[in-house]
Amino acid sequence: MKVLVTGASGTVGGLVVRTLAERKVPVRGVVRRQESAAALRDQDLPGVEVVVTDLANADAVPALPAGVDAVFLVTANTSDQLAQERNVIRAAAAAGVQRLVKLSVGGASPEAPIAFARVHHAAEQELAASGVAYTVLRPAFFMDNLLQFIPWIDASGRLALPTGDGAMAMIHSRDIADVAAVELTSGSTDNRDLVLTGPEALTIDQALARVGDVVGRSLSHIDATREDFLRRYVALGNAPDYAEDIATLYDGILRPGYGATITDTVEKTTGTAPRTISDFARDHAADFAQPSGTNNS
Ligand SMILES: NC(=O)c1ccc[n+]([C@@H]2O[C@H](COP(=O)([O-])OP(=O)(O)OC[C@H]3O[C@@H](n4cnc5c(N)ncnc54)[C@H](OP(=O)(O)O)[C@@H]3O)[C@@H](O)[C@H]2O)c1
Repeated sequence: MKVLVTGASGTVGGLVVRTLAERKVPVRGVVRRQESAAALRDQDLPGVEVVVTDLANADAVPALPAGVDAVFLVTANTSDQLAQERNVIRAAAAAGVQRLVKLSVGGASPEAPIAFARVHHAAEQELAASGVAYTVLRPAFFMDNLLQFIPWIDASGRLALPTGDGAMAMIHSRDIADVAAVELTSGSTDNRDLVLTGPEALTIDQALARVGDVVGRSLSHIDATREDFLRRYVALGNAPDYAEDIATLYDGILRPGYGATITDTVEKTTGTAPRTISDFARDHAADFAQPSGTNNS
């Protein structure tokens, strides 16, 4: 069999490509930028073909699933995200692929307070109507999200985020990729909706303390206001509308604890318990060992 993987240079798509290659499943990985294609080709993964296509280009996408059996669909939360997802779903249906595994979010609904959760819902509706057998993955907060905030850690090891004491069932992206690999290759024809979490619900303070234990640094959380977070998140290069969505997620959904529910879906699907925050810290120890406070403005 062969699998088409979008977002093949991204956090989850990159790991899905690697995981499938390790299992000797041929892959066609799609990226948008030539630099990303070059970096992926440099990894020299066996059986991995890399193509550069803008998923928003409705004329180019139909060729992508030619000769593939399954599709892993991940798109970034951009203003044309729904158009990208529709293009891929329609192309998969037209090509007669057997299964599409879509990375979505928890709380996807037309009434969601976050724009990308409404977009994911609309894409799920398209998928359900497409006739292609599917799995929708709804992962919790990625542990990997912490990596982008490393430059914000101050000289005392403190990271300010607007999540208060909200616990979240944070998940390692490698577990999302492992579940995706099973779903893509199982041959199952039923439709599945999987809520994926890590093994425990942690506040950002508890997560940082555990990362600190692994990397030999004292790390902790201090609360931030929505406004302070917005200012800094936009300064990182994020679009203001997207920053508003992330601020709503952190301050309005994660702070009150709505992201804390644990499921056993990772272990049921893969046969292996989900990775802990300590596992994540070991995987990224070099990143967290960096000197602090390089960008505290
Ligand atoms: N972070 C979380 O906690 C969380 C939780 C649940 C669900 N999610 C969902 O996860 C998804 C993001 O996944 P991720 O973090 O793995 O993404 P990511 O690391 O941001 O990667 C994005 C990928 O999409 C590619 N891409 C971007 N625009 C493209 C375009 N126009 N055409 C073709 N390819 C394009 C990029 O390629 P280039 O490298 O070439 O630019 C890259 O490979 C979102 O849909 C989000 O809603 C996230």
